[in-house]
Amino acid sequence: MCGIVGYVGQDDAWPIIYEGLKRLEYRGYDSAGIAVVDDTGALHFRKTVGKVSGLDASILGAAPRGSLGLGHTRWATHGAPSHANAHPHTDCSSRVALVHNGIVENYLELKRRLTASGHVFQSETDTEALSHLVEEGLSLGLSFEEAFLRMGRMVKGSSAITATLQGEDGPICALRLGYAGGIVVAHHEGQGIVASDLPALLPVLEHGSGTPSVGFLEGGEMAVVSRDGVRYFDLDGNAIVKQPRRVSRDDVLVDKGGYRHFMLKEIMDQPQAMTAALRDRADFANGRVELPGFPLPPSAIGALERVVLIGCGTSLHAAQVGRHYIERLAGIPAEAESASEFRYRDPLIGPRTLVVSIGQSGETADTVAAMHLAREKGATLLTICNAEESQAARIADGALYMRAGLEVGVASTKTFISSLTILHLLAIYLGHARGRLDDAATRRLVDELSRGPGLISDLLGEADSYRDLAYRIGHYGNFLFLGRGASAAIAAEGALKLKEISYIHAEGYPAGEMKHGPIALIDPGMCTVALAPNDVLRDKTLSNIKEVKARHGVVVAVLTDGDDEAASEVDYPLFIPEAPELLQPILTTVPLQLLSYHIALMLGCDVDQPRNLAKSVTVE
Ligand code: G6P
Repeated sequence: MCGIVGYVGQDDAWPIIYEGLKRLEYRGYDSAGIAVVDDTGALHFRKTVGKVSGLDASILGAAPRGSLGLGHTRWATHGAPSHANAHPHTDCSSRVALVHNGIVENYLELKRRLTASGHVFQSETDTEALSHLVEEGLSLGLSFEEAFLRMGRMVKGSSAITATLQGEDGPICALRLGYAGGIVVAHHEGQGIVASDLPALLPVLEHGSGTPSVGFLEGGEMAVVSRDGVRYFDLDGNAIVKQPRRVSRDDVLVDKGGYRHFMLKEIMDQPQAMTAALRDRADFANGRVELPGFPLPPSAIGALERVVLIGCGTSLHAAQVGRHYIERLAGIPAEAESASEFRYRDPLIGPRTLVVSIGQSGETADTVAAMHLAREKGATLLTICNAEESQAARIADGALYMRAGLEVGVASTKTFISSLTILHLLAIYLGHARGRLDDAATRRLVDELSRGPGLISDLLGEADSYRDLAYRIGHYGNFLFLGRGASAAIAAEGALKLKEISYIHAEGYPAGEMKHGPIALIDPGMCTVALAPNDVLRDKTLSNIKEVKARHGVVVAVLTDGDDEAASEVDYPLFIPEAPELLQPILTTVPLQLLSYHIALMLGCDVDQPRNLAKSVTVE
């Protein structure tokens, strides 16, 4: 949610910050801005409404030159996307440039007090109060670092804040408060860079040799970055030592790999994503599952009374499928809940509960807060996440990483498949440890999983055919996605994908619930997408399809190859290969992703960066 880049070094700051912001654009793209300190020490601000490309030097004319600066790409919270509300923000005397990711919960109180003491605000943002607070500290005679730290102590809520000051030497000060909004700090060959995420480091890496060591700020930590190096402090101003970590080029690379969109690349990457999730976990030779990273010894698994799976958006839908896997294979009562609801209840969990958080980013504010709640209540906490340096990974007792590689498309695709794969493995692992699955059953399930990547590849071989269907149905203004059992969660995911990237109204519903309301909506203007693969519920869903057809609705159905009977009932059949039942949620997902992608493309939508959304939602 919002991307921050700061640079201090010997090179021209503008292109480095601009490139870094482009790589962080998945975090928000309502407006963007860069501030650079020129050789005389003067600060220059440039801002644009909309995407970072509005800051392209060729559009702007001459970009300000200097080797110190910072930039921001915004996902609007307080104040509409406008020039005035774009970051960096400044103070009354334009001495400070400050960018922010998060929410300042006490900004009204701060703004009122500052206004009363003569500060004049230019924007409607909560952020601007922070730059005025730094100015206030400076006018009290504090150094920039002291004034920045004083500001940090006055702010309530979770935020990542970065600022610099006019004058050639900076430094850049960066602060993380609470658990929202990561900050990574790197120093490499006389250049310091601060960013919300690793991909923004690439422009510096490309011009240097070797790989830099980086520091990830925890809540309550500040970094002071200059050409000479980085110093770290706590909120009381005490120096702290951070263990630097090495990052590789792969951690920072963002590349479409020849595809037109990241989303399409990431859909096409799904066989590899599934293979990576299985690696070292599914022992195909011996028919076993090993889960290094699982936080409980096998002896404690038998004592588990409940599994609670939490996540948001696509990750919530993965949790809903995971619930089916765990109840079915492990025989443990399981539930799936939106992290944003879970965190505000007083859930009945304790030491015999396994809480599994699911998240691509590991930074979603609601998920992280729900994990803290689970921790307080003494549950064992496992996270399934893609970002290995994330909050989720740090809070959890154990982590099963997706290893899907960076996902850039704002709408999650490959990490959904990774999540389902790991949840499937987890269910087998728990089932075997509890004696519900014997060795033979475990071997059979592991064998089934080994077929997954190949089956996805088969489906992707037909990827282009979805374009034709998109042209036939993309004009419908309303879509109803139906499924039963685990397919109900895939229906919800299909609807989410379509609405996220094409802005078409779509609802995902358990097929059995259709007759309790949504059936009233069925008419020739409503397109129903039904999931009816060959499983024990296929006949029931087929009945729902007939009910839709009887009311002149249009039906697309995802069916198993060879199901001619069901195909003859629907307008547009789509087929998945014959597959074991528990692999079907993975396979039925793929046609829905491709359909959404092609509909969005046909409608001219911005597939990778849909309006109003952001890849990682670090506000509550
Ligand atoms: C945002 C994204 C969704 C994603 C959700 C949860 O809303 O737009 O694509 O599913 O966040 O993200 P997480 O990183 O927790 O999986």
